[in-house]
Formats: sequence, C-alpha cells, structure tokens
Amino acid sequence: MTNFKSLVSGVGSLNKTTKYYDDWSENYDATLKLWNYQAPKKSIKFLKETTNVKPKNILDLACGTGLFGAELKKVFPKSHIYGSDISKKSLKISSGKKIYTKLQIKNFEQVHHYKIKFDLISLIGSMTYCKNFDKLFTNINKNIKEKGFVVFTHRIDLWERQDFLSILKKHQKTFKITKVSRPVNYLPFNNDFKNKIKIKIVLLQKY
Ligand SMILES: C[S@@+](CC[C@H](N)C(=O)[O-])C[C@H]1O[C@@H](n2cnc3c(N)ncnc32)[C@H](O)[C@@H]1O
Repeated sequence: MTNFKSLVSGVGSLNKTTKYYDDWSENYDATLKLWNYQAPKKSIKFLKETTNVKPKNILDLACGTGLFGAELKKVFPKSHIYGSDISKKSLKISSGKKIYTKLQIKNFEQVHHYKIKFDLISLIGSMTYCKNFDKLFTNINKNIKEKGFVVFTHRIDLWERQDFLSILKKHQKTFKITKVSRPVNYLPFNNDFKNKIKIKIVLLQKY
C-alpha cells in the first residue's frame, strides 16, 4: 500500500521514488481526484494569463500518468506533446491516454536527446524530487528554443527551506524569471497538505 506520508517528507532515492510511483500508478489518477489536485488546471490558467504562447512542440518532464498533459492537450490540441518520467508504469498509463507524441523513461536531471527544440517545457508537481537543480536546468536549456517558456510548480515549504529564489537567480542569465504566482492550493482535500502546504507556479523564458 502506498505510504502517502512520504509525499510530505520525501520518498528518498531515485530507485525508491521510481518504485513508489510505479506502485501507485494504477490508482494515482483516482487518488489525486479525491484530493482535488489543483496544479495542472491552475498551471494552464497561469500559462494562458501570462503568455500568448502557441507551442508547436511541448516537453512535459515528469509527466507521470499524464494529468498535466491532458490539460495541455485541451488548450493546445494541435501541439506535439512529448513526455518523460522515471516511472515506467505511470508512462504506460499516460500512453493509453493518447496525449503524447512520444514518451520516454528518463530522469529529468539527465540530458534528454531530441532532434527538435521545444517551445514550452513543463514540470508540474515534481520539483520536490529534484536533487540537483543545475542538472535539471542544463537539461531544460539543451532542449528549449530561444524565447521558449518553462512552466513549473514548487512547494512553498521546500522553496523557503531551499532558498529557491536564489537558485532561480543563479540561472537568470539563461532564463528570465517572467512571473511567480501567489500561493496556490495544491492538494486541498488531503489532510497533510490542505491549506498547510501550497505551491507557487513559475514562468521562465529563455533569452
Ligand atoms: C506528483 S507526480 C506528478 C506527475 C504529473 N506531472 C502530474 O502533474 O500529475 C510526480 C512525478 O515525478 C516523477 N519523478 C520523480 N522524480 C523524477 C525524476 N528524477 N525524473 C523524472 N521523473 C521523476 C514521478 O515518477 C511522478 O510521476
């Protein structure tokens, strides 16, 4: 049975995180629906309000079972959406939803190799698992177009503990910090998160 306490405190190593999401994959969508998971819809709304981007190609990092991909597909039905994740079983579920042009099993801290560059790269509900931000930003930078956008969410409790704004500022020569949202509800019907742990949504633009 999935130990949901680990969602707050952290799962641990990459192997443990992979197993955690593999084991959860079949029930993930139903559980998040019960908890009224807000990040995908709120991130799309934020993106639409802050940019007029019409992305031809999108890369959804840590796409999981495709909950954010599904929102992307609604607003950008003609876009080619690529996805990656470490959980093979989650990818099997997202593959069944026919959202993604191409899916691959990959750690977002490793450089992804594509023949195209992306207009938009997303990382929703997953920054929690990043252990090396420089590696993540290197991967994003390799795969994004000039003037391309990056949208991601990050938990405010971790943001503060990590002094995350200074981490973003370190990458300011490559990525302009276009907008940071106010605190947004994350899992309002989950007792551990409720109104205790909220997220910020961030939009970056590559110079
Ligand atoms: C909370 S889920 C979010 C999934 C999806 N973006 C969504 O909004 O529903 C976190 C996802 O991050 C993935 N993940 C965790 N660490 C990762 C890593 N280092 N590289 C790629 N994916 C990772 C997990 O397998 C899981 O699918």
